[in-house]
Amino acid sequence: MKYSSKNAQETEKLGKKLVSKLRGGETIALTGDLGSGKTVFAKGVAKALGIRKKITSPTFVLWRLYQIPKPGRIKYLCHIDLYRLTQSQDILALGINEYWQRKDTVCLIEWAEKIKRFLPRKNLFLVKFEISDLNTRKIIIDGVSDVRS
Ligand SMILES: Nc1ncnc2c1ncn2[C@@H]1O[C@H](COP(=O)(O)OP(=O)(O)OP(=O)(O)O)[C@@H](O)[C@H]1O
Ligand SMILES: [Mg+2]
Repeated sequence: MKYSSKNAQETEKLGKKLVSKLRGGETIALTGDLGSGKTVFAKGVAKALGIRKKITSPTFVLWRLYQIPKPGRIKYLCHIDLYRLTQSQDILALGINEYWQRKDTVCLIEWAEKIKRFLPRKNLFLVKFEISDLNTRKIIIDGVSDVRS
């Protein structure tokens, strides 16, 4: 599905809506330029999962694990930001393995284009962000029918 987002709140809301499609074990792969809205979207996902901690891009550590306060099937959100990753195989050395495609975990990856060949084929939501102008973003979500319905 293609969406046009007119402001950050709309992008955050799309992230929230996607959560209704999650059962645990999914990978959400976000791609797109600097400032295109990936972290804003991630905040929506985290909020809808009940995470109250402030979500910031885990730039230096590359990933951060959030425990879901009132867990259902999903107990963890693993937020990964690969902006600083130089070699795709370095992903294997980050220590994420334990949470990768785990049934009780959702992995959300910013700059997922950097590890294309390591992305799972199953339970994958691919979310592409494009900057149209200052406050408008084109957002394409593959792997799910309309998240708004
Ligand atoms: N429609 C929109 N959707 C999302 N963000 C928007 C929108 N319009 C303006 N913005 C602004 O664009 C910026 C998006 O920043 P964000 O950190 O989410 O980008 P990012 O894709 O994560 O970038 P980076 O690659 O640096 O991590 C924010 O400052 C936000 O307020
Ligand atoms: Mg970001």
